[in-house]
Amino acid sequence: MYTLKRLKNGFKYIEIKNDVMQAKIALQGAHIFEFNKLLWLSEISKFQEGVAIRGGIPLCWPRFGSLDVKLPQHGFARTQMFELVKVEEINNRLTTVHMLLKDNKETREIWDYTFELHLVFNLGESLSISLRTDNTGTKDFMITQALHSYFSISDIKNISIEGLQNRYYHDALSEKKVLQKGTIKICQEVDRVYEGVDKDIVLQDGQRKVHLRTKNSASAIVWNPWIEKTKKMSAMKRDAYKKFVCIESANAFDDFKTIQAGDSYILKLEIQESENG
Ligand code: BG6
Repeated sequence: MYTLKRLKNGFKYIEIKNDVMQAKIALQGAHIFEFNKLLWLSEISKFQEGVAIRGGIPLCWPRFGSLDVKLPQHGFARTQMFELVKVEEINNRLTTVHMLLKDNKETREIWDYTFELHLVFNLGESLSISLRTDNTGTKDFMITQALHSYFSISDIKNISIEGLQNRYYHDALSEKKVLQKGTIKICQEVDRVYEGVDKDIVLQDGQRKVHLRTKNSASAIVWNPWIEKTKKMSAMKRDAYKKFVCIESANAFDDFKTIQAGDSYILKLEIQESENG
């Protein structure tokens, strides 16, 4: 079952339910901001046209970060209005949602390319997202991108992240390249772009495990703003940093992609939650 909902200010989202999950996806940014209890969403996030939701899975596209002066940080897709192409109730445990963004006057003004961006959500026992970029124009273009997942956690001190051992990361805080030794524990601000990612990443939170499996992504960002940066972040309460960690499935930095005219590129992410036996 799904329902198109509209807040008083006109902000639109769809609510989707089947036997195994409940999800909410905003039309702005094709932004999933609820999937059972998997995703963190700031209690003070704005739901307003032109402002990215704080939490869920914002889409960073056609840029991850702030490489280009003309483009906003993390690109423009997260504040663009997507078209809801279709919702398919495959069976009572699986629903798919297909959304689309095409270039328009506003996007061409800051990024002069012709494209289609197709997002397909598979909403079942697990959550999977496919992000397909079609270059529908006559000029090649370059993208960096990320599915910027904010995971809800019991407390930052309880978590560890596996799967990135022996990988180098670019540390955005020191601007240095560092080798990751062992699993990741977070006890200070962390803002890292890992490269050469070739395994599933597992977020362990007490007895709970969240598995991330990607296709066509060789980079991942691990981010937690900790105490001081949280105070400066928009739409975040002071203690918010304790309750989430971002593990972003990406094509960032050297993992950028050039998409030739007429070609496509698909980035996929599957997220599965389990309890340790
Ligand atoms: C992360 C970046 O991906 O996103 C951080 O690595 C950044 O540096 C964070 O602070 C949040 O960005 P924004 O634009 O959503 O506030």
